[in-house]
Amino acid sequence: MYELVYCSKASPDLTHEDILSILETAKKFNSENNITGCLLYYNQEFAQILEGERDVVMSLYEKIKKDKRHTFVVLLGTGNKPNRHFADWSMAYKDLDNEVEAPLKSDFMKT
Ligand SMILES: Cc1cc2nc3c(=O)[nH]c(=O)nc-3n(C[C@H](O)[C@H](O)[C@H](O)COP(=O)(O)O)c2cc1C
Repeated sequence: MYELVYCSKASPDLTHEDILSILETAKKFNSENNITGCLLYYNQEFAQILEGERDVVMSLYEKIKKDKRHTFVVLLGTGNKPNRHFADWSMAYKDLDNEVEAPLKSDFMKT
């Protein structure tokens, strides 16, 4: 199982609808391509973990990097691991700006 982690800065004009649209795309593509992971949003920044087959993860990351809805995409790490951490989520989403005190895992949006 291959894992990739990056962070990025949301574009200044990013809207709530943009985030919903990203999640909609992710839900469809990721479930069809055996990708799982989580997307965090905090203080106008994203952090995302993608897990799946190496080639699929890398080509998705290449598309994500070019997405105008964020900038300053920085790769934080890649590697292999024995199992998925987010096996049940095509892309778990958490907005930490609005629910800082909520327990993290139980409050994930399941997409
Ligand atoms: C922060 C962020 C995270 C994204 N995560 C995913 C994802 O997990 N899966 C996905 O298919 N698209 C994701 N996207 C959307 C892709 O950047 C892109 O719009 C999508 O792959 C469709 O690309 P295409 O129109 O070139 O096929 C994300 C975009 C952003 C800005």
